[in-house]
Amino acid sequence: MSNDTADLFAPYQLGSLQLANRFVMSPMTRNRTPDTVPNAQNAEYYAQRATAGLIITEGVQPSAVGQGYPGSPGLHTDAQVEGWRGVADAVHAKGGTIVAQLMHVGRISHPSLIGTTPVAPSAVRPAGQVFTVEGMKDLETPRALETGELAGVVAEFVDAASRAVRAGLDGVELHAANGYLLHQFLADGTNTRTDAYGGSPENRARFVIEVAQAVAAAIGADRVGIRISPGGSFNDMAESEIDATYTALLDGLAPLGLLYLHVIADAATGYAEGLRKQFDGTVIVNTGLAGPSDLATAQQVVGEGNADLFAIGRPFISNPDLVHRLRTGADLNEPDTATFYGGDEKGYTDYPFL
Ligand SMILES: Cc1cc2nc3c(=O)[nH]c(=O)nc-3n(C[C@H](O)[C@H](O)[C@H](O)COP(=O)(O)O)c2cc1C
Repeated sequence: MSNDTADLFAPYQLGSLQLANRFVMSPMTRNRTPDTVPNAQNAEYYAQRATAGLIITEGVQPSAVGQGYPGSPGLHTDAQVEGWRGVADAVHAKGGTIVAQLMHVGRISHPSLIGTTPVAPSAVRPAGQVFTVEGMKDLETPRALETGELAGVVAEFVDAASRAVRAGLDGVELHAANGYLLHQFLADGTNTRTDAYGGSPENRARFVIEVAQAVAAAIGADRVGIRISPGGSFNDMAESEIDATYTALLDGLAPLGLLYLHVIADAATGYAEGLRKQFDGTVIVNTGLAGPSDLATAQQVVGEGNADLFAIGRPFISNPDLVHRLRTGADLNEPDTATFYGGDEKGYTDYPFL
């Protein structure tokens, strides 16, 4: 299959995956997996959206300590694997493709959720609050991971990725964006380490590269994508040396031949163009919470060669048949923000198809 067209409705060959079009469902936490084991309703939700070229699941914790939100699913137990098998089978039955986003939240968690102090590269307390089963709570100072513990965290990512493949999912996306653990290593505001994993841009990129290397070695680089948000401030992040840091990261990832690079390039950072030149593979762009997420923007970003695939978030929540609506110019359902996080089928599986 040839990929040399900017027609967003044309098929796209992503590694060994044949995508029906170039629209990607952006990863979105929905907090509807109360016991962390994906259920029939979760499977229905994703299957309804299977006409997306690629679905990236909501953030999935690779370990219990990596969970940041109540009702977010995991990939560290056999029961969770069986739950994900139900999701993967339902999406594949509708002709879709789906990868799991591996999201270790690091310091963006709370002892009331995970029963222990959250871990992070350094003991830097994030400003802000987190949603817990007991309501909103102030985020607390995390415990800095010791150098000797890092291999264990890498192993958690490897285990979760292997479980994703065992469940029949098409691959994984490493969440190195939006202020979660991997991003916390990249950013100098959250990484004040003095060992080989902190200090210089190369050192701050080291942990993320080691995770990517190990996961690629375990399940194959053609099943591994990565999401980044250079300069993004979500979750109280502060980054300087952005160019040097992300150049060090992409230099380290280059020999691996990962499946894709997924960049959150909101108007504030405008960073996609430069990264496109530094990554020799498929690039997915999402314009972030502040940027427009419509067909015209998708056509512009892909048409100008800054991306191969375009990821859309909130419109996929409210329009299970979004690709069809975009193709035909039909009206879109508006997303109901009150039902984004948690609840039942309302605002989840009950949005109307055309
Ligand atoms: C309800 C909701 C949950 C989200 N959860 C995640 C997540 O788990 N992982 C992630 O990388 N981004 C997450 N995001 C960010 C989206 O993937 C996307 O970057 C953002 O919504 C901007 O795209 P849009 O304007 O098309 O919605 C979430 C966004 C929303 C609205």
